[in-house]
Amino acid sequence: MSKTAELNIDGKTYSLPIFTGTEDEVAIDIGKLRDQSGVVTLDPGYKNTGATKSAITYLDGDNGILRYRGYSIEELAEKSTFIEVSYLLIFGELPGKDQLQRFRDDIKTHTLVHEDVKKILDGFPSTAHPMGVLASLFCSQTAFYPESLDPNRASESVYLSIIRSLAKMPTFAAWAYKNALGHPANYPDNSLEYCSRFMKMMFALPAEPYQPDPVISAAIDKLLILHADHEQNCSTSTVRMVGSSQASIYSSISAGINALWGPLHGGANQEVIVMLESIVKDGGNIDKWIAKAKDKNDPFRLMGFGHRVYKNFDPRAKIIKKAADDVLGKLGVKDPILDVARNLEDIALRDPYFIERKLYPNVDFYSGIIYRALGIPVEMFTVMFAIGRLPGWIAQWKEMRENKEPIGRPRQIYTGQKERAYVPITKR
Ligand code: SDX
Repeated sequence: MSKTAELNIDGKTYSLPIFTGTEDEVAIDIGKLRDQSGVVTLDPGYKNTGATKSAITYLDGDNGILRYRGYSIEELAEKSTFIEVSYLLIFGELPGKDQLQRFRDDIKTHTLVHEDVKKILDGFPSTAHPMGVLASLFCSQTAFYPESLDPNRASESVYLSIIRSLAKMPTFAAWAYKNALGHPANYPDNSLEYCSRFMKMMFALPAEPYQPDPVISAAIDKLLILHADHEQNCSTSTVRMVGSSQASIYSSISAGINALWGPLHGGANQEVIVMLESIVKDGGNIDKWIAKAKDKNDPFRLMGFGHRVYKNFDPRAKIIKKAADDVLGKLGVKDPILDVARNLEDIALRDPYFIERKLYPNVDFYSGIIYRALGIPVEMFTVMFAIGRLPGWIAQWKEMRENKEPIGRPRQIYTGQKERAYVPITKR
């Protein structure tokens, strides 16, 4: 690959450096294009624009490859744990035994949240969507830890913010759920590991013994690993953008939670279940719904299908689809919408519309079926995605800060009115 690209504008040639990454991905560095030529590039949705160089996650959308710090998602989902994967993403290497134990213990030390958080929680009606509650509670940490507002703090206090984020996210999530039920919030039981501790905060009832099911905790741990990072997706790019202004890690991640909430992004796992239930209620007429998804005049899209990067199977969807069979089998759960999902996938993958556009099931297509089988309510599905994505957001925020990346400020092309004089209201 040559080291430069030649761009010709109006007979003048500009030479632009070419950058090649570890996996031979190639980019044209346009950092100096406007200074040289007065011209900028235009790419709504950044479909063809790299925002950064990153050493955290590698995606190959054409071949369905996903690796965290060089380790394949298949191996990590099979052999690792969510806390170990979180350490890997944030610090770059798999932890040794003592490092992992210290990380686990540090997280356990910070699972409690300030009692005043309950005053914020009580302000939300039980009808509040848990994602809105989660984003607010997470951002409220800036009030309880004002030192987090200083972007240039010593690394050990950044470590403390990272630990507090990982430790308190499940507590906030469970409290948001209990608020929706009008139930009292549960405190974290630090005798349990991460996922079991979360399940107990979610489902334990006052004065009733609660024993987390190891099958459920293991399934959640695997799902969290599969959601842990995904390079420059919408919510991660949001975390980087907000963090680039030197806002605190808590406000940057709170912004990421809000971006993830959208139905085209993390909110899709909730919409998939709504879609599948509508198909079942509608008599299971899959061909009708496939036709709606293909109809340009119909806003309906096949939720859980398609991806900006994957033009082949999303490797996470393959793992989750198999896990759905395993978990529902182990729990003895029969869910009619799993059969609808399989039929929908089968028909869509043979339809020219989906084949031509390389639309495959993505991570959200099957995840909701497992969450449902685990007893997690549908309005908490995207919250589960946020718990999983947290270490990725943290790792990307930390990388952006350590690389001293500039504040994000894209350009635009103006298409509005030319200059015109003010018209007094008496003359309009
Ligand atoms: C996530 O970026 C990430 O990494 C995200 C994520 C992560 O881990 O962070 O992987 C998580 O967000 C997964 C995606 C979850 N969203 C959904 O499942 C919602 C349904 N999917 C679509 O809305 C869509 O596929 C997107 C948003 C995921 C991707 O959209 P793009 O890349 O902007 O593609 P597009 O909208 O331009 O679609 C290209 C064509 C269009 O048709 P034409 O104009 O060419 O005729 O494909 C069509 C679209 O209409 N299309 C679909 C479709 N997705 C795309 N048609 C029907 N159903 C769909 N789901």
